Amino acid sequence: MASLTELPAWKALQQHYDSQGKALKLADLFAADATRFQRYSSEFKDAATDTTLLVDYSKNLVTDETLDLLVQLAEATGVASLRDSMFNGDPINFTEHRSVLHVALRNVSGWRAFKDASGQSVDGEVRDVLGQMKRCADAIREGVWTGYTGKRITDVVNIGIGGSDLGPAMVCQALTPYQGTGPNAHFVSNVDGTHLAEVLKRVNPETTVFIVASKTFTTIETIRNANSAKAWFLTQASDPAHVAKHFIALSTNLKATGEFGIAPENVFRFWDWVGGRYSLWSAIGLSIAIHVGFEHFEALLRGAEAMDRHFAETPLRENLPVLLGLLGVWYGDFFGAATHAVLPYDQYLGRLPAYLQQADMESNGKYVTRNGERVNYATGPVLWGEPGTNGQHAFYQLIHQGTRLVPCDFIAPLRTHNPIANNAHHEILLANLLAQPEALMRGKPLEAALAETPADLAPHRVFEGNRPTNTLLVRGALTPAALGALIALYEHKIFVQGAIWQINSYDQWGVELGKVLAKNVLGELRGEVPLGEREHDASTAGLVAYAKGFLEQGH
Ligand code: F6P
Repeated sequence: MASLTELPAWKALQQHYDSQGKALKLADLFAADATRFQRYSSEFKDAATDTTLLVDYSKNLVTDETLDLLVQLAEATGVASLRDSMFNGDPINFTEHRSVLHVALRNVSGWRAFKDASGQSVDGEVRDVLGQMKRCADAIREGVWTGYTGKRITDVVNIGIGGSDLGPAMVCQALTPYQGTGPNAHFVSNVDGTHLAEVLKRVNPETTVFIVASKTFTTIETIRNANSAKAWFLTQASDPAHVAKHFIALSTNLKATGEFGIAPENVFRFWDWVGGRYSLWSAIGLSIAIHVGFEHFEALLRGAEAMDRHFAETPLRENLPVLLGLLGVWYGDFFGAATHAVLPYDQYLGRLPAYLQQADMESNGKYVTRNGERVNYATGPVLWGEPGTNGQHAFYQLIHQGTRLVPCDFIAPLRTHNPIANNAHHEILLANLLAQPEALMRGKPLEAALAETPADLAPHRVFEGNRPTNTLLVRGALTPAALGALIALYEHKIFVQGAIWQINSYDQWGVELGKVLAKNVLGELRGEVPLGEREHDASTAGLVAYAKGFLEQGH
């Protein structure tokens, strides 16, 4: 394929941006079209899981022509054929020779047969592991699986990092209302001993199961934390035979889990075609299944499956992940927006921005195309966010009056799990959710500011407005299925953008160098490698010597 910016579809978009796009005014667009909301919003519905998600993209700086041109870009960049390759199990993660088949993990209804790159069916193995997860989750939740003193399990501690932490941590928090009598879920990710130490203060070894979650089972943070957790456990349980009742591993590396000492029946496998940041649907989701029950974990999968089908089968112009992906390209590559904010108005979704940060930034934070060339356009945005309304009292100032364009996604379920004070909290929350996109779009003109303040102060109260947003509303409560659909929507949006930018969204070589250099420094700090033997720049050498000097004084 020709370079992205050389494609006629790209050039047409650039020309459209220069001639009209950059001057579009949301207020004018709404004034000119009374049906804009109806035409530029769409309900995703899945009857099987009773899920409805409204996606309103009408407050974007686009016209029919813009959307047509964006869809033409998706066509010209082969989004649909790459999507089909993913669903077919082709090794689209070509730098690691792997299929990208997280979609096969939520094929609960069996809507299609999934095969890996070698043509082998994966569906049977996926079902087997799901069965193993169900048996484990049921046994723990029903008190059949007990600790070494025969007590019921009250807590699970997931030890993992990145994709082996953020997905399950985000989902467990989001689905807290479904915990019932199930165990509490804790998450230890950071190698900072504080993280583990603080969790261990809250749990009892007799009633705690540790889940060591690591695709590779070589990640230094996870292995260090797992070893320390095991040592802590053994100081109390004393007999190493008790480890079998209290340690589970989730990994593709069965050799390493055995070496760590985890009983084979406590190992839950998954496959190299599951990317770490797309793995919450696999055995990595075991903490979810234990915390909220397997039936709710399965409902999460079903919701994601419904979104997979929508993505696979819906024409590009009505395809929600495609539309959201294209809008992101429009802002990032033509308007120069460097960031994208995800703003959930639901406390249970507090970790969604952090989760999406990895999903998006580790996938699309790349400057080399699939052809090995450096891009001459912007790729993945800096993704960030916080739950509303907290953000309103913190960083929204910059979104409203700052110099940078920050496209935002506002997300909320229309029903709360906690309708306290006669639903008053939720009404206030929703009112704020609905008002912020309006304020960002509408702004406040100078005349209005002049009506309330002297002329010299009026400019400070002017809001330019015209700031684009999407609003995503779950029609009901945030159920497991609705959450599954929402996460899959973002996963596929990321896919679409990676396809357009011609990058491989499924490797992450950019994280490797830091790991190697950290090993070097660790050797120096521990005195295993003399200072000066490793080559460092003067700053790093100075800092290493400074830290080592302090540590050697026994502080
Ligand atoms: O270092 C980045 C990364 O490889 C992520 O992609 C991954 O989610 C995380 O580390 C954890 O990896 P693992 O599950 O192999 O421990």
